[in-house]
Amino acid sequence: MSQQLLPIRHQFPEGFLWGGAFAAHQMEGAWNEGGKGLSVTDISALRKDVPIELRMQGDLSREQVREMLSHEDDWVFPKRWGIDFYHTYQNDLALLGCDGLGLNAIRTSINWSRIFPHGDEEKPNDEGLAFYDRLINAMLANGLTPFLTVSHYEMPLALAMEHGGWHDRATIDRFVRLCKVLFDRFHDRVTHWILVNQINMVAHEGFNHLGVPTDETDDPMSARYQALHNEMVACALATAYAHDTYPELQLGVMEYANLAYPATTAPEDVMATYRRNQMEQLPADVLALGAYPGYALRFFEERGIDVQAEDGDLEALAAHTADFVCFSYYLTQVCSAQSVAEHEQGGGDTFQNPLLEANPWGWAIDPVGLRWTLNVYQDRYHKPLYIVENGCGYLEEPSDDGVVHDSYRVRYFRDHIAQVREAVADGVDVRGYFAWGAMDIVSASSCEMSKRYGFVHVDQDDYGKGSGKRTPKESFAWMQRVVRSNGAEL
Ligand code: BG6
Repeated sequence: MSQQLLPIRHQFPEGFLWGGAFAAHQMEGAWNEGGKGLSVTDISALRKDVPIELRMQGDLSREQVREMLSHEDDWVFPKRWGIDFYHTYQNDLALLGCDGLGLNAIRTSINWSRIFPHGDEEKPNDEGLAFYDRLINAMLANGLTPFLTVSHYEMPLALAMEHGGWHDRATIDRFVRLCKVLFDRFHDRVTHWILVNQINMVAHEGFNHLGVPTDETDDPMSARYQALHNEMVACALATAYAHDTYPELQLGVMEYANLAYPATTAPEDVMATYRRNQMEQLPADVLALGAYPGYALRFFEERGIDVQAEDGDLEALAAHTADFVCFSYYLTQVCSAQSVAEHEQGGGDTFQNPLLEANPWGWAIDPVGLRWTLNVYQDRYHKPLYIVENGCGYLEEPSDDGVVHDSYRVRYFRDHIAQVREAVADGVDVRGYFAWGAMDIVSASSCEMSKRYGFVHVDQDDYGKGSGKRTPKESFAWMQRVVRSNGAEL
């Protein structure tokens, strides 16, 4: 008997998640309240005279950290105050939830240094857990499904300084302990967990993510990939605990979707770009598919990168794979055989696409790239997908009427969400879309408040001055309609 294959799906599925995404260290503030320890990003200083890489602290030595700490009185550390969400979350969630913007999900992170202030304690800090109890309850009261990230640049600073962060194998146990505490406490209210934010950012986030100071070893590449290996094993073991103990939990691997287009049709450019893109997907290949792919082993061998797996590691990776795959999406770039060769000598491996516009920070705007990325991830993993960050930072000020008129933001989101809908029609199993920083927060990379992403303006400048007042921007009403119509009205 024959059966018609059509129709394809032209609308977002029922139950699609429309969310806002945040990270604790960019919004909570209260850096020294509730028993919290110092985290690796509490030392991120706003200094307009230093390059963005240093503000984000992708690479720091212990000496540099000590230097930064010695400037406690004369430098500005915006992530220490965020937008004061630790104290304002009730009103903020009301503004974003069912009676406000209408979102039905929120992604934020648990600040590791609130739960284990030093990183190697046996017992968690109760005050930290109590805060997240209240926060999760407030999310649910506002119709917001919580998506929680366990590690989003909030490793206790002591763990990095005293143990070399993820380079120390013992951090596997420390992280699994953290996950167990969180799952035990919150499993009844939080089903979706992202274990590590942008786990593939190995090359750019040695300190603020992996917690590996540059003076940890004289072989930084091996140190980073060893740290990544330890992190991935920890993810597999945390997943094993969750699956065994609370079968309803869904564990996700998250990447910074960073695919590049080949610069030309020359086969060498296409191959070099393909290989470069594969390496960007290494952690999801391991954590969603269960094994190190051959291209990675070749990459290690050709560069003398030494990664040691202990007994049981590879078995754990194979047995405890992620339930879903998710990614942040901001931009695409261009790659060539030459840019890859230059990268081996210390240059960047990609460059700007001359056909695309960029925001003031040089981030190219490419809605079609989002559809392409969704299709690539679908073809590769065959698991539910979530876009857990998408958005664009703009420089903007309220007009005389007190409102930010941000038609450019409406255009940005309309174009990107339209491409997600195209991907749905392509058959991609995408289940949620989270707008990054639905409310203005401190930028991760530049530490500026003036790089604004939100549908809600927060009256606060780069130096923390301002009333903190929250005011919906023009795009707020537009996004409300999008969510209410489940993406039908763009
Ligand atoms: C993502 C990070 O890479 O990009 C977020 O997960 C970050 O923490 C976001 O805020 C946007 O970057 P930025 O630097 O503009 O804040």
